[in-house]
Amino acid sequence: MKIGVLGVGALTEALIRGVQQSAAPFEWVLSPRSAERVAGLRQLPGVRVAPDNTSVVAECQTLIIGVRPEQLGTLLATVQLRAEHHLISLVAGVKQSELADRCYPAQVTRMMASIAVAYPGASVFFYPQQSALSIPFQQAGYGVQSFATEQAFEASMLSVCVNAWWLEQIQALADTLVAQTGMQLQEAVSLLAAAQQESAVLLQQHPDRTPAALAREIGTPGTYTARGLDYLKAQQAEQPWVEILNQLLGELKPRP
Ligand SMILES: NC(=O)c1ccc[n+]([C@@H]2O[C@H](COP(=O)([O-])OP(=O)(O)OC[C@H]3O[C@@H](n4cnc5c(N)ncnc54)[C@H](OP(=O)(O)O)[C@@H]3O)[C@@H](O)[C@H]2O)c1
Repeated sequence: MKIGVLGVGALTEALIRGVQQSAAPFEWVLSPRSAERVAGLRQLPGVRVAPDNTSVVAECQTLIIGVRPEQLGTLLATVQLRAEHHLISLVAGVKQSELADRCYPAQVTRMMASIAVAYPGASVFFYPQQSALSIPFQQAGYGVQSFATEQAFEASMLSVCVNAWWLEQIQALADTLVAQTGMQLQEAVSLLAAAQQESAVLLQQHPDRTPAALAREIGTPGTYTARGLDYLKAQQAEQPWVEILNQLLGELKPRP
């Protein structure tokens, strides 16, 4: 698969590096801005840098837009899109219908990912479903999920945000382990990362059971796990997480 990139930033760099180290790398043509980043990426096999945005668009039918929302207008003013172009937008918060209007007559698909795309095995999300995109990303080793509604797709962005929230929790727990046991921070982080990986394995292996049911299966009465579950429940520890998720989902709801 050949992809042109308009706006090579932190996320697109991660994506390109991840895909290029996979078993099924793509061919990439990059816009030249962000000189330092682009200079590093052009060393990778299969990656070229075009002289300008116009050349990227002339050469590639599939294009990733990797700019920030406020940079989108300026970017689109520099390119002439045609019906054969398929734009994949990473731009958070800009709806598919708005993108389709602004990029007419090109086809538009929204994509979401996190910086973890630097490693095959991470997940990418699409709206609407696009097998022309899903298949090459699956072949490159990525978990691909597509959504029937744009609101569900927006939730995928928040699931990416939750990753960072979990990382903050891991930091706090790891700091406690270090302070109480004298172990190295890296050792503590490894322990907690392994525990989190095990929760993911349990969830994947038991799709018939809810996360809460699995938690109670691990935390049988009288165990340390059960004491922790009971304490966190009594403190309503999940409440701030639910509150911020609700708030952000509300902001992403389509306006009438
Ligand atoms: N970073 C994440 O984890 C993440 C996660 C989910 C979604 N996203 C979305 O992904 C998009 C990119 O995020 P990012 O963090 O990768 O941003 P970023 O690092 O700021 O990258 C944006 C890049 O686009 C370049 N650019 C701006 N205008 C351009 C133009 N007219 N022509 C060519 N290149 C242009 C910028 O160059 P200059 O530096 O020269 O301005 C910069 O290199 C955003 O819309 C964001 O909402 C990001």
